[in-house]
Amino acid sequence: MTTIAALPKAELHCHIEGAMAPALTRAIAQRNGVTLPAGLFSGQGGGYAWRDFNEFLVAYDAAADAMRTAEDYGELMYGYLAGCAAEGAIYVEMFVSPDHAIAIGLGFAAQLAGLTAAIDRAEAEFGIVSRLIPCCIRHLGPDRALEVARLVVAEAHPYIVGFGMAGDELQHAPADFAPAFRVADRAGLACTVHAGEVAGAHSVRDAIAALPVRRIGHGVRAIEDPALVAELARRGIVLEVCPGSNLALGLYPDAVSHPLRRLLEAGCRVTLNSDDPAFFATSIGKEYAMASSRMGLSASELLAITRTAIESAFVDSDTRRALLARIEKGEPT
Ligand code: HPA
Ligand code: ZN
Repeated sequence: MTTIAALPKAELHCHIEGAMAPALTRAIAQRNGVTLPAGLFSGQGGGYAWRDFNEFLVAYDAAADAMRTAEDYGELMYGYLAGCAAEGAIYVEMFVSPDHAIAIGLGFAAQLAGLTAAIDRAEAEFGIVSRLIPCCIRHLGPDRALEVARLVVAEAHPYIVGFGMAGDELQHAPADFAPAFRVADRAGLACTVHAGEVAGAHSVRDAIAALPVRRIGHGVRAIEDPALVAELARRGIVLEVCPGSNLALGLYPDAVSHPLRRLLEAGCRVTLNSDDPAFFATSIGKEYAMASSRMGLSASELLAITRTAIESAFVDSDTRRALLARIEKGEPT
């Protein structure tokens, strides 16, 4: 193993529905008798076919729609965690969308049961620890987000550690979702929101002003406003940076142009994440490898990023302490 391959890794920003590789989507659709939409996969290579962010969201919904059962979610989660563990990950915090489970008639409680069983099995077999962040979907609107927050709080489970929001950042304003986030925050769930990905720095500014968030999903476009970057650094708001996703969606033309290093140098707390690895041809291991080979981060800078991820993970303090001890021991080598 190279140094980077052997490095302990952690990720805080991955969507379970976005982790379903095309072959698994086909297999699950077939056993569930679901006909996938024509054009979901590209002719060459057989990957998901999409050309921009909105087409990505449509493909994402179509893939998630192949699932029907708790076991489908469990198989997906177990396989994903097994792959992460093989790449050196010791911790994965996973976004899960109750709306997608409801859309297929499964419901949140059954989705949760499938996921938590997979988490237990993966930890027993590979030592990888995982927790869940249910998220609402921004383009479904504030009323639906509030319902999702209430549902999540009502289904309290020790592995549910946070609340988030994904979806189309160009729809609605962060303040519209303050009631949903208030419900989650008051129930003790730590919060994060996607901002500064499809929209610019103002979106991050509005999010941290209106919502009780400790972290920002993406947040990279804060780089467009130096005063905001300084504020993020001063307040210690952690950025869940997903370089491979940003390159796949065309936010930046290449790794050299990506602001990860500039954010780090400005004192921001950043983490590395795969976002939707099955759609963006990435993995947590590939993100660390790219940061090393194409962004010039050293092994010790990457280890510090893992440390930041564990320090800002939404886990209880005993679990955090145990994970930090594994980093200091240099696990998983
Ligand atoms: N951004 C917004 N919504 C999403 C994403 C993302 O990167 N992935 C899945 N839903
Ligand atoms: Zn995301």
